[in-house]
Amino acid sequence: MAGQQGGDRGGFGSRIGFVLAAAGSAIGLGNVWRFPYTAGQHGGAAFVVIYLVCVAAICVPVLFAELAIGRASRKNPVGAFASLAPGSWWPAVGGLGVLTGFAILAFYSVVAGWTLGYLGRALLGTFADPLTHEQSVALFERIEGAGIIPVLLTAGFLLLTALVVRGGVEAGIERAAKILMPVFFVLLVAMAIRAMTLEGSAAGLAFFLKPDLSKIDGGVFMGALGQAFFSLSLGMGAMITYGSYLSRGDRMPGAAISVALADTVIAVLAGLIIFPTIFAAGGDPQAGPGLVFVVLPSIFGKLPAGFLFAIAFYSLLVIAALTSTVSLLEVVVSYFVDERGWRRERATWLVTFACFLLAVPSALSGNFLDWQSILFGNYALTIGAMLICVFVGWRWGIPAAVEEIGRGGAPMPLAPLWGLIIRWIAPVAIAGVLIYIVATGNYM
Ligand code: TRP
Repeated sequence: MAGQQGGDRGGFGSRIGFVLAAAGSAIGLGNVWRFPYTAGQHGGAAFVVIYLVCVAAICVPVLFAELAIGRASRKNPVGAFASLAPGSWWPAVGGLGVLTGFAILAFYSVVAGWTLGYLGRALLGTFADPLTHEQSVALFERIEGAGIIPVLLTAGFLLLTALVVRGGVEAGIERAAKILMPVFFVLLVAMAIRAMTLEGSAAGLAFFLKPDLSKIDGGVFMGALGQAFFSLSLGMGAMITYGSYLSRGDRMPGAAISVALADTVIAVLAGLIIFPTIFAAGGDPQAGPGLVFVVLPSIFGKLPAGFLFAIAFYSLLVIAALTSTVSLLEVVVSYFVDERGWRRERATWLVTFACFLLAVPSALSGNFLDWQSILFGNYALTIGAMLICVFVGWRWGIPAAVEEIGRGGAPMPLAPLWGLIIRWIAPVAIAGVLIYIVATGNYM
């Protein structure tokens, strides 16, 4: 059962509700959109190898750290640091997180708006027959590059997000995530199977799975690390906030590992759809943020009941994106509710409106979007995660965190190794990558 919380805060109804909501936060456009295009830009399989290493060695430990901070303090990121380290400057790290979440929401909702546009197209039957690559590119330009349309789609998506967040954690977030994530998974598996049996798809599979280790450079490390934090919703306090809604009696380790596994499986599945399909269709895997949107339309017409399949797929992608935008908005809103004493309703609408204003330039310019995605999606999250490690390792303390993690009855697995990673390995590795990037000037 959820812990007791006062007033407007709310809590999760159950542990499985928490797992699905946290997985809902993690699984989203980061897996289906950002992971494939980032992998495509950074050499494919070599990137995937580094990505998996980052997830296992750095991100999963950071996930535990964030959940522990959240559950120990039962607060939003700013309040969490303030209550675990009173009178220090640590709450500023939470503040950086809240700002980062706000900025991520602003570009993320633009991309989420594109998915709404594609859902509209699916309903109109555009994907009943396979589109050629050229038709697909033209369609993307009509949705993404048409001035007012992406702005309206962004606004529509932010509105949906606000409506869920306004409803509070249990009624809104948990209920939506519970039913829909498993359905999404089944659809992705079907698409991956179809993609891998397309003529000419083998080269795509090799690009995605056969690493050419000579392609690894600082940019690959930075891209993979940033993407891993992004995909697991780490580095800005989303998991602190969700941890704060996890009851003291619930076993945390299994929950955390399930979330990380589910997220990683979905990202790999997305790669197994995108790369075989793009190689079969003759497109460029380095196309950048438009990659996935251009690639997918060519596959629906080749699936049974392609028309319905496309509708189902884009509906679920919209919902996957929504459970992620909800977690981003939730962090910012919970800050204003907890720390500033605003009512949830008022906080939700004001933050959403401000976010829309920041989203407009991204909706109008792909370059601005790309730049925001790198700055906040890679750098701010990576720096945030490093500071979270330093906080848990050196200020709050490993023993206190390990105790908090084990509170529900399942102890932290490999606690000494975890302590070593949080105190030394993760912060030093992250700092090393950042320093290397600055020294080589290889920022993207
Ligand atoms: N992880 C989500 C995705 O992959 C995006 C997201 C939601 C996020 N909340 C976050 C990213 C917090 C970073 C931080 O789509």
